[in-house]
Amino acid sequence: MEKWARLLSPKTSSKRKRSFSQGEGPKGIAALKNPLASYRERISEKAGFNIDAKAFPFELGYVFVTLKAQGKGLSHQLVDEAIRLAAGRGLFATARTDNARMLSTLEKAGFNRKGKPYGGRSPKRRIQILVRPGEKSDEATEP
Ligand SMILES: CC(C)(COP(=O)(O)OP(=O)(O)OC[C@H]1O[C@@H](n2cnc3c(N)ncnc32)[C@H](O)[C@@H]1OP(=O)(O)O)[C@@H](O)C(=O)NCCC(=O)NCCS
Repeated sequence: MEKWARLLSPKTSSKRKRSFSQGEGPKGIAALKNPLASYRERISEKAGFNIDAKAFPFELGYVFVTLKAQGKGLSHQLVDEAIRLAAGRGLFATARTDNARMLSTLEKAGFNRKGKPYGGRSPKRRIQILVRPGEKSDEATEP
């Protein structure tokens, strides 16, 4: 991975994750997360789409590009690197429905929107689930 961007694995500590947003560190981060079953179930129910743990074992999250570095295509490289690290396994992600950049990057990387947006105290805070099926796994089915 290039010096300007870091990909964090599920084992990376929270302290280390926070440190990337300070000082002259990398310009972007992304993480492959191993989400709790309770979180997976909660958002599956809200969205009306079952994020099956076998089909989508990891969540792509914490995608962040520093303000100065935004708008230069770095999000594509972070997401592509996360997909590479997942080694053919299925991924899911969530993004706010008003986050056009993130949704665009995810969809260009092969993620598809699933279920209905859930929220959210305000209409702007609706969250969309997206999935990217793995090479060997079947896609999850609606509950
Ligand atoms: C979302 C974020 C990661 C995008 O990173 P970035 O490196 O600035 O984005 P990019 O330059 O790679 O652009 C991403 C895509 O969005 C598109 N885009 C930019 N502005 C857009 C807009 N207003 N509407 C629709 N698409 C837009 C770009 O065209 C680009 O696609 P392309 O390269 O194929 O043309 C970055 O803005 C960020 O860190 N935001 C704050 C944290 C965040 O929201 N993270 C996501 C949490 S789910």
